[in-house]
Amino acid sequence: MATEKFLWRHIGPRPEDIENMLKVVGVSSLDELIEQTVPESIRLKKPLDLPAPLTEFEFISRMKAVASKNKLYRTFIGQGYYDTITPAVIQRNILENPAWYTSYTPYQAEVSQGRLEALLNFQTMVVELTGMEISNCSLLDEATAAAESMTMMYGLRGKEMKKAGANKLFVDNQIFPQTKDVLITRSAPQGIELVYGDYDTFEFTPDVFGAIIQYPAANGEVRDYKAFADRVHANGALLSVVADMMSLVLLTPPGEWGADVVVGTTQRFGIPMSYGGPHAAYMATREEYKRNIVGRIIGVTIDAQGNHALRLALQTREQHIKREKASSNICTAKALNATMAGFYAAYHGREGLERIARHIHSAAVILAEEIQKLGYKLKVNKFFDTLRFELPEGVSQAAVRDAALEQEINLFYCNCGCGKVVGLSTDEKINEKEINTLIGIFAKAAGKTAAHVQFLDDRTVLDPVMLRDDEILQQSVFNIYHSETGMMRYMKNLERRDISLATSMISLGSCTMKLNAAVEMLPITWPELGAIHPFAPMSQAEGYQQMIRETEEMLCKVTGFAGCSLMPNSGAAGEYSALMVIRQYHISRGEGHRNVILIPASAHGTNPASSSMAGFKILVTATDPEGNIDVEDFRKKAIENRDNLIGAMITYPSTHGIFEESIKELCKIVHENGGQVFMDGANMNGQCGLTSPGEIGADACHLNLHKTFAMPHGGGGPGVGPICVASHLVKFLPSHTMVKTGGEEGIHAVAAAPYGSVGMLPVTYGYLLMLGGEGLAMVTKMAILNANYLASSFEKLGFKILFKGSKGRVGHEMIWDCNMFNKEYGISELDIAKRLMDFGFHAPTLSFPVHGTLMVEPTESEPKEELDRFIEALKTIREEMIEVGEGKADKTDNVLKNAPHTHKVLTADEWSHAYPRSKAAYPLAWVAENKFWPQVGRVDDGYGDRNLMCTCDPLESYADEK
Ligand SMILES: Cc1ncc(COP(=O)(O)O)c(C=O)c1O
Repeated sequence: MATEKFLWRHIGPRPEDIENMLKVVGVSSLDELIEQTVPESIRLKKPLDLPAPLTEFEFISRMKAVASKNKLYRTFIGQGYYDTITPAVIQRNILENPAWYTSYTPYQAEVSQGRLEALLNFQTMVVELTGMEISNCSLLDEATAAAESMTMMYGLRGKEMKKAGANKLFVDNQIFPQTKDVLITRSAPQGIELVYGDYDTFEFTPDVFGAIIQYPAANGEVRDYKAFADRVHANGALLSVVADMMSLVLLTPPGEWGADVVVGTTQRFGIPMSYGGPHAAYMATREEYKRNIVGRIIGVTIDAQGNHALRLALQTREQHIKREKASSNICTAKALNATMAGFYAAYHGREGLERIARHIHSAAVILAEEIQKLGYKLKVNKFFDTLRFELPEGVSQAAVRDAALEQEINLFYCNCGCGKVVGLSTDEKINEKEINTLIGIFAKAAGKTAAHVQFLDDRTVLDPVMLRDDEILQQSVFNIYHSETGMMRYMKNLERRDISLATSMISLGSCTMKLNAAVEMLPITWPELGAIHPFAPMSQAEGYQQMIRETEEMLCKVTGFAGCSLMPNSGAAGEYSALMVIRQYHISRGEGHRNVILIPASAHGTNPASSSMAGFKILVTATDPEGNIDVEDFRKKAIENRDNLIGAMITYPSTHGIFEESIKELCKIVHENGGQVFMDGANMNGQCGLTSPGEIGADACHLNLHKTFAMPHGGGGPGVGPICVASHLVKFLPSHTMVKTGGEEGIHAVAAAPYGSVGMLPVTYGYLLMLGGEGLAMVTKMAILNANYLASSFEKLGFKILFKGSKGRVGHEMIWDCNMFNKEYGISELDIAKRLMDFGFHAPTLSFPVHGTLMVEPTESEPKEELDRFIEALKTIREEMIEVGEGKADKTDNVLKNAPHTHKVLTADEWSHAYPRSKAAYPLAWVAENKFWPQVGRVDDGYGDRNLMCTCDPLESYADEK
């Protein structure tokens, strides 16, 4: 076999390992294993028809050719996306560094202290700039963050309002159109009515529960909202503010004038525009709403030794864990982008940020002055960075556009129909030359000539009352890493605290932590992709359009569907989008009353959470003792609800790791009773090239490109969750108010940007182009082989695999039952998970979807040697459990209960345990050769929740409320 082909770079085991692995599994060939695993009835009849695989070199050449079709015009469109400078130290050490981009969401705090600290920095930055009390660490984008704030305020209605059915949300007219678009999508199924108007004239009525405004407003105006905030509160309503982070460096923060929630994007903190994303959004609120804030919150706590430690705060952590009671399905967010934005703030510090913000503002002031001199009328006098000009008599938008395009510059052209307004937004990159070019464009359109102006960063149009005067970002992290050496070492210091794929295998089940190949990641930071504004003319984004079209086509072939939308920014966002498409399909047939959805008990929490956001009534269906969906219970519930059945959500292969034989039957039942089948594609790594959602009989699915299709997980995002749908649903695919996309009768937007986090798309594009159809099928087979190799080996060690298919095989992942260890030895799945850290391994998925278990998914990318090391670690852990059982080790003071062991504990002068230090630190010889040291001991979640602290202030400033 040609191992220089990408396929054999991507796959971990060497071709010569396969025979040995098959022997352990007990089959004679890979095909025999697949026959025993994937039911014949659902197998694809012919190979996937994807283009012939490219080599890595061929892919990069192709990608260069595609990217070069994008035209790098300088863009001053604004509208929520601005050019920015990514400090090279951040680009190289974070965005291009697998130690940062391949790590998982920091659920296992002891091996995630680095990214937890980076995200705590982000939260601190948000709290400081917004003037609020608490912040989460990242949401998907500005528009969905605004929608999350709407739902949050709705949930926070007082008793009276709830009783009276107050359901109106005031939306100020000066909000970006894409934000409004998403608010429309998200409000409808919740029964929320949007009322639009001008903030200063709007008359509140008792049925208004909240208001959303933008700061600065969409037309650029810096408004004094204090009186409005008072009116909102006098009406018993809450106020959400969509705020531009960079402007907050100078402006009086919303927290000071009465905001209850503040949301927005952090894109302009060093994150390239990338045709729309990925960019991290934020949400900040008052302390009293800490249990209502959505997404993740990083909090400070202590570890088993009482040392400072970080972890995901509050038991709720992510809303979707509340399943159908959740108000949000947010799971994967934009952690890597949030990390970068936090570092951007730390690198520049307060003074640096102020310099940047003043630079942006001063440029706008000069442009305003000079362009007015040419006869253009400035529509808004108090602005930060955004200008709106009414054109002089006889000057058309087209004339300005022509003059701008001649200089390869994009401006904002108001499309309200008046044809008389042109605008621009300044950014961090702007310089004197560009300022003069911009003035020249307006001069040319007006038939005038303009004198050269000098650019000094000292101008303002803002009154002192509009400016903040507090001392922000005083925390040490924002004040000591301003040299590149200092910053690089800080990043390295944090990096060393975390397990990523650069350290070892991450066997998290349902997460598919496979290789994110360097060649796939290379294009991500190319300027041809980074510097494109999402609302740039199509003619400047031909490269992106080609990559989008070709990736969509390939994903359609892989899923067996007819249409695709790349808009959703995460798996959960994909679930929601597909459900909304299904809802629209029923509405279009006059069956809008259908609202009952069947969801198996084993489903991921995002499934019921997404359904609830889509306004559906959830009926949980049972699973049988083998872990399969109980067909009779499913049928009974479908028939009982046939008049109102909207559909079902099914994960396949199931979250129990099984290819259920009954899948076609289940789809038939749903269809016979009037519903549509949504397939949760998080487990597509068990399907690609062998079967497909279309083949099985589903109508729609989402894909987690950040799992199956090689995008990195980034410590919790970016995620890309496209949806693929059968032909009858294509016309309902999500549209976008600014860019024509989606179906002819498309639902409103589900994300701020028309193609979501499309900046990450080269990864999946490359993955598919370099594997081709057969390669993709081989990847799936190897994922199944790796899983069965582990399953067979673990069984020999006495681990019980909870569920298997009818022929005794697991799919691409498996669940081990740890309950018997608990009964026999008092050792829990948590102890096993934590002890694995002493061996340098990340824990498998803990207690999902079955309590008392560990779920393991090795993926095809793990080499046999790594699988063998993992098995050896588990063998040692098994022996350590037996030692406890036999009384050779203490029941509570043993290596498992005390795990993980930190270097501080092991090098302390005091050592009171009955086992030697060497056993704790180096349980196997190879562990000592390349030891990973967990930064903290087992974290104390309870302490952290009782003493909630979510910014990086000194720990001593918070007293124990116990
Ligand atoms: C089965 C399943 N569905 C949906 C999701 C949600 O995906 P995301 O985290 O990208 O929102 C996950 C995430 O782990 C999952 O495992």
